[in-house]
Amino acid sequence: MKFFIDTADIGEIRDLGKSGLLDGVTTNPSLIAKTGRPLFDALAEICAALPGPVSAEVTATEAEGMVAEGRALAAIAANIAVKVPLTWDGLEACRRLRADGTMVNVTLCFSSAQALLAAKAGASFVSPFIGRLDDIGQDGLGLIRDIRAIYRQYPDSIATQVLVASVRGPLQVVESAKLGADIATVPPKVLRQLVQHPLTDKGLAAFLDDWARTGQTILKQAAAE
Ligand code: E4P
Repeated sequence: MKFFIDTADIGEIRDLGKSGLLDGVTTNPSLIAKTGRPLFDALAEICAALPGPVSAEVTATEAEGMVAEGRALAAIAANIAVKVPLTWDGLEACRRLRADGTMVNVTLCFSSAQALLAAKAGASFVSPFIGRLDDIGQDGLGLIRDIRAIYRQYPDSIATQVLVASVRGPLQVVESAKLGADIATVPPKVLRQLVQHPLTDKGLAAFLDDWARTGQTILKQAAAE
């Protein structure tokens, strides 16, 4: 499974990116607004910091405007994936931007019918928002299961990757992986939670105590060899 980070905070992207475990970034207008920075500066910096796809969302609501904005965003860097909403205009813009050779992430997907259309429009990624579905008492992971089941029926014609979005906790990431989702985009906090386990901390502390009692150090011994 690929991991994208769901933030526009360059500090977090650089910090977590050092692990080498991040495959891309997703931003949206709310995340950009949170940084208080000009959009193009923020995106250029993110694209330079991480080589994978960086989603940048249009704000026009008609296809013509989305295509114009999408082309302007795509010119920032080769790793921009233009994000368009899952509307008829968004699907038209997706098809046209894909014809330019631009990566497109069709966002705000809340049903398998919508995901079917995103694939039909040639989307590089479709972003089902599972947390927001759970928030209204619907089954976010059920949507991932359905989309995977549908896409699996057309292995020769659907190349759209399922990008699980609106992730609220580590369990959703694990369950999405079990369902075969291609990518999870995860907020920095959840990404850090993924590595945590109390038995790892406890086990490490015990190993280090026992080792300290020996008075040995690995590098000193290696240098003496
Ligand atoms: C995805 O691309 C979106 O940026 C994001 O996952 C939305 O998540 P939220 O529901 O936590 O705002």
